[in-house]
Order: sequence, then structure tokens, then C-alpha cells
Amino acid sequence: MELPFFNFIDTLDDDERSILKTALSQKIDRYFDSNNHLQINSEDERNQFDQLAMSLKRLSVHSNIIPADGILYQGFPAWLNEELLQKVITEGEGRRLEPLEQIDHFLGCGGLIADELSVSAELLMFIQNLVPVVVSPTGIASYIYYDQEGAGIRPHVDTDVFSLNLILMLKHEVSSSYMPSATIVFPAFMEPQSFRLKVGEVLIMYGGNVIHTRSRIAPGEIVHLLTIGFNLNMKSA
Ligand SMILES: [Fe+2]
Repeated sequence: MELPFFNFIDTLDDDERSILKTALSQKIDRYFDSNNHLQINSEDERNQFDQLAMSLKRLSVHSNIIPADGILYQGFPAWLNEELLQKVITEGEGRRLEPLEQIDHFLGCGGLIADELSVSAELLMFIQNLVPVVVSPTGIASYIYYDQEGAGIRPHVDTDVFSLNLILMLKHEVSSSYMPSATIVFPAFMEPQSFRLKVGEVLIMYGGNVIHTRSRIAPGEIVHLLTIGFNLNMKSA
């Protein structure tokens, strides 16, 4: 779909894209209810939301390689063997006991294991094989804890600190009487896509350019995640 606005975006430099992204990001909230569900009341609003989601995607200089749903990978990768998974889970459990920053979830920076993983050559090679432009590690790894009823994260796109976001599920306890929470993406011109990862399962998304959320945590539910950020360079791989 080509519109004059999208052609205009193509003429912007990095700084201008960044400013526009910040401005457009602030419009995301109005299309969601307090439970982080998309709330569209009319055809016009649907159209506006799709243009917003499409613009946020188009603001990436690599928008042509981003899949329609913004997802790069989902699965159980070979670089994450049982031993490494256990080490990350244990480190994540330990970090939870330390004082953490609370937004609408608890956030801990990485740790020795997570930081090492975030720059591991094997992981980088794995992602590089999925992407046609050069990928670089940011070294930014964060443990995220959703372990209070109603926790979650408001729908957003990630800041320019990283464009690819890897999510690894470390722990998911849920009471059988409630629908478990999920990572949900809201691509333009598509139904929202929900991802309920199993422990050890990995999701990699173009988080800087696709709107995403964690739906609200159900009573008794506990979710521990590790996220790792990567960037895309201008050069072809
Ligand atoms: Fe995010």
C-alpha cells in the first residue's frame, strides 16, 4: 500500500524518523482499553489505527524486510541447551529478590549469564542467518517479572535503543481457571496475534516497529522473561 505520507517518510533522515516515531508512539494508547486490548469503535478508527501501525513500521529504514506481523522467529533454538536455560532461569530467580524498578511490571537489568548471552557469537550468528542486513548486539539484556495480578505493559513500540527484541520465556505459572496472559502484537491491516510461549521458547520481533503489549496478568499467574535487544545496520549481510 503506497500513500503520499509513506513516500514522505522515506525522505526523512535518522533524526527526523526518531522524532516522528516518538510523536506517533504517543498516539498508540488511544486505541486500547485499560486491559491492553485493542478497542476500535468505527471503520474510521480502524483505518486510523492501521495507518498509525503502518507508519511506525515504515519509519524503519529496513521496513521492506519486516514481515507483515513483525515477527522474525518463534521456536526452541539449538543455541539454548538445557544447561544454559537452567543457568538463565536461576539467574533470573536471583535477580527477582533484589530491589527492582517497577513500572507496571518489575524490571531487572541482566546479570553475568544474561549479559554474556546477549553478545554471544552463536546467538548473533543465529539471528544473522534470519536477517538480510548486518545485525549487531546491543549487549542490553533485561529480566522482566510479571508476578502481580493486573501487571502487564501498555501497548508500545520499543525505543530506538534497539530494533529487534528477543524474548525468552523463563517461567510461566498459571492457575487453570484463568486465561493466561500473552505477548500480543498489533500489526497494520491484521488481527492481533497472541503468543503464549512455553518455558525455553524464544520469540524475536521487530519490536521497534510493531506495536506490542503483555496482556494483563491473571490472578495467581507468574511470568518471568529475559529480553535481549539487537540492532540492524545499513549494510547488507
Ligand atoms: Fe517492548
